[in-house]
Amino acid sequence: MRKHIYALGGAGLLLSVSMATLPAQELTGELPDPPEFSAQSEPNFVSVSDIMEYRALPEYHEPDWVTSKYVEAGTLPPVAERLPAEPLVYKAANMPDGIGVYGDTMRHVIGGRPEGWNYIGGQSQGWGGIDIGLSECLTRTGPLFMIKADELEPMPNLAKSWEWSEDGKELTMHLIEGAKWSDGDPFDADDVMFYWEDNILDQNVSPLNGGTPETFGEGTTLEALDPYTIKWTFQEAFPTQYLYAMAYGTFCPGPSHILKPEHPSYSDNTYEEYKNAFPPEYLNIPVMGAWVPVEYRPDDIIVMRRNPYYWKVDEQGNQLPYLNEMHYRLSTWADRDVQAVAGSGDFSNLEQAESYVEALRRSAEDDAPARLQFGARTIGYALRMNLSGNGWGEPDEREQAVRELNRDLDFRKAISIAVDRQRLGESLVRGPFTAIYPGGLYAGTTYYDKDSTVYYPHDLEAANALLDGMGLIDTDGNGVRNFPEGTAGGADVEITLLANTDYGTDTNLAEGVIAMMEPLGLRVIANFQQGTARDDMAQSGQFDWHVERQGAEMVSVVQGTAALAPTGPRTHPFHRAGSDGTLDLLPFEQELVDVVNAFIATSDNAERAELMKQYQQIFTENVYSVGLTQYPGALIINKRFANIPAGAPIFMFNWAEDNIIRERVFVPEDQQGSYELHPETLPGAPGSDGPM
Ligand code: GLA
Repeated sequence: MRKHIYALGGAGLLLSVSMATLPAQELTGELPDPPEFSAQSEPNFVSVSDIMEYRALPEYHEPDWVTSKYVEAGTLPPVAERLPAEPLVYKAANMPDGIGVYGDTMRHVIGGRPEGWNYIGGQSQGWGGIDIGLSECLTRTGPLFMIKADELEPMPNLAKSWEWSEDGKELTMHLIEGAKWSDGDPFDADDVMFYWEDNILDQNVSPLNGGTPETFGEGTTLEALDPYTIKWTFQEAFPTQYLYAMAYGTFCPGPSHILKPEHPSYSDNTYEEYKNAFPPEYLNIPVMGAWVPVEYRPDDIIVMRRNPYYWKVDEQGNQLPYLNEMHYRLSTWADRDVQAVAGSGDFSNLEQAESYVEALRRSAEDDAPARLQFGARTIGYALRMNLSGNGWGEPDEREQAVRELNRDLDFRKAISIAVDRQRLGESLVRGPFTAIYPGGLYAGTTYYDKDSTVYYPHDLEAANALLDGMGLIDTDGNGVRNFPEGTAGGADVEITLLANTDYGTDTNLAEGVIAMMEPLGLRVIANFQQGTARDDMAQSGQFDWHVERQGAEMVSVVQGTAALAPTGPRTHPFHRAGSDGTLDLLPFEQELVDVVNAFIATSDNAERAELMKQYQQIFTENVYSVGLTQYPGALIINKRFANIPAGAPIFMFNWAEDNIIRERVFVPEDQQGSYELHPETLPGAPGSDGPM
């Protein structure tokens, strides 16, 4: 490999010579402002204390059939005994339509497929809100879109309160007392410590949404003081930022009484066996969320029923959720849009721009069953290059040669300016939706600063000149540039591009990129994979390039912050540690890491804004990833649902499935449908084959 690096080093020298005639500034240009597109409704901004509190109420209620069929029959304790002493209470004044009534179903449609129920062990449930509904986390961030900007802090959830030590290095959290898993087993610090010690600190386990020790800060420790008190110790003072990491999806404990006996530290299982110990057929997995999976039919449906031990109530003492059942039709993401618009499904995050025009047309009709509401431009795609030069994903010779290209700024610049972003956006949908996205933070989000954004406009000629300068010449005249002699046998430069076939948008954009690389003399080969396989390849570094929809860190910055740069060996989407466990950061990446760590360490707003300007500058100047397009999403929800908060974005701190606070969503009596597949039943025993 050494030889190759030398060869590229030589090319780099060559390049600096040719760059003398092509000053870098010439490649940058004026970034056009995104087309005007205003969100259709604004949130009513409130304080967290306007939304919820923890308090004992004089009496509690539940659906009548739960009392008559279960409590009176002696198979379930009375509701007051199932609830914590002080349940989480949603205040009526903050509910858009007030106190709700019981009944009905929310019919979700999803494009993913469940691997199983071991979320903290790394299994996907198929997305689309299933895991969001199953898992409850120490804190909660989805609904923060409606919190006053100067009061922004994660909401309490399983952690009902916390206080900082005087020096700011210790954070003591009080867990909700007396809350139970859906099978009646107590929730307490054992669950929290099992998550921390055996799933986060144990590096053989990779929780689904990527929680790693560094997500909570290097050197951070966690201990249980008693069953309902835990204590964090940080290296920095007052790193309030970690409260965001304690929300979905990095601190949502699993049921230790069920999972722990299968973990390799407590059994003969291998890590793979632990991860897979709870396949989709294993029903009634205990959850802290509002609904429990009670039925699974492959490629057809997952049905979930109300959790009789759910620990949240409304102000009149009605145990939540109001909705008895949740459906997840196992179909496609595009079908989710179609069904929500047609009324055979109830919910969609309209996020595939290709279907906007048709969805808008139908939703505008008077008899449309669903309302459709656009939000800000928070859906964005980038071409991400694998930047590990030291073995992440075990590259072969060709792949290693591509990694070396990826790590060269002139190469990334060439790719960036070879992309015609205007055309790419318009190929998805015409109209004021898509905007040119140079990379980094999205225009229109809190920390975005246009003046700190370096934009390299489309310029195919300059792109070709850059690659010539790198010594990537088409030596055999077949239209494809070759690696310099001595690198990958001087073969054609072939690059594979990973994309997710579950979404039309992902593959459309990837195909657009492939086509735009042709006149550049690069052969880009589609590596299009179905969702779960794509996730696995992305997680394990098995890609040269990857076109993907980006996470919340690019939108809110405060959620998923550790993923903004390779702050730890496994925190970043396209640069993780190689086989020896170390990260071979490029100098500008080290700068990004420092900026992100400084951001995490301060809660001073002015300082944070300044740091994110630096982040944006370093990111875009160095083309950390090749931004492609960004556009707004729309929430589609059937008109019969009440308590949908105004201005709920489909994606901000979390997805809309969390943002709309589904546990307090209801359907007025006169509009209830008869969609329940298991009426008047409750979840059965863990691992049993259905509801009771
Ligand atoms: C998928 C969907 C999103 C959202 C999330 C929730 O990623 O594409 O719209 O539903 O699942 O996890």
